[in-house]
Amino acid sequence: MSEKIRIDKSTSLLVLTGAGVSAESGIPTFRASADGLWEKHRIEDVASPEGFAEDPAMVWRFYSERRAKAKSVAPNPGHHALASLEEQLGDRFMLATQNVDGLHGRAGSKRVVEIHGSLFKTRCSRCDREPFADETVYGHDEVPGCGRCASEGGSSLLRPHIVWFGEMLDPVDLHKISRFMSNANKLLFVAAGTSGAVYPAAGFVQTARRYGGQTILVNQEAADNGGQFHRWIQGRSGEVLPSLFDVE
Ligand code: OAD
Repeated sequence: MSEKIRIDKSTSLLVLTGAGVSAESGIPTFRASADGLWEKHRIEDVASPEGFAEDPAMVWRFYSERRAKAKSVAPNPGHHALASLEEQLGDRFMLATQNVDGLHGRAGSKRVVEIHGSLFKTRCSRCDREPFADETVYGHDEVPGCGRCASEGGSSLLRPHIVWFGEMLDPVDLHKISRFMSNANKLLFVAAGTSGAVYPAAGFVQTARRYGGQTILVNQEAADNGGQFHRWIQGRSGEVLPSLFDVE
């Protein structure tokens, strides 16, 4: 690989990760591969409020399978490299991930914003109770109900705490990320393992540039928004990230 990227004492690093970062752990990506999740499932069936209303058991089957898969794999050198960067940079580091598999946390990352939610959290589809930790792999036709609604005489279904198509990202998360960028003295933005097809994450590179940031893409294949980065390092994140940075 060409020369390392230097991170001096005034640099703040924002990293955006996507499904490609978990690919080397054995989790299938969504697009751009023959076994991509969206090749096998219709997005609107398993990742939209309408799909859930239509067939909640099928939606729970999809997410239960993904829970089981995520639990069965381990973080790879790409996840570990980001956790170790955070150890060195402290508050000058932030990780925004589109991944819901929890692998960054298991690798030791702490300053993580899970902008698309988490496979390991569940919430009510109706009431405003807080999302809660839930690792349950539900049975084939099982659809869990909300205990709080039931205790108040109602009945409603629990759903995965995932941002589905047509839903808004949590504005608190987006605010955290834009505040990190605007507070940075010198901003470095690195996107890794993401096709740049889904907004608002695909637009972070433009925001970073507006704040004067240097922008780098680490991706195996060309990304939809690839032309907006200062530099593209083509390769596997588990191979590139561990030796990409030189921290002062
Ligand atoms: P995609 O599946 O769209 O893109 C994965 C990208 O990672 C592709 O560009 C691959 O070339 C690249 N890639 C694959 N293996 C890699 C590796 N080992 N190292 C580096 N790059 C690799 O996944 P995302 O961009 O994460 O949203 O998709 C964004 C969102 O679309 C997801 O969060 C999900 C999906 O619909 C929701 O479910 C809300």
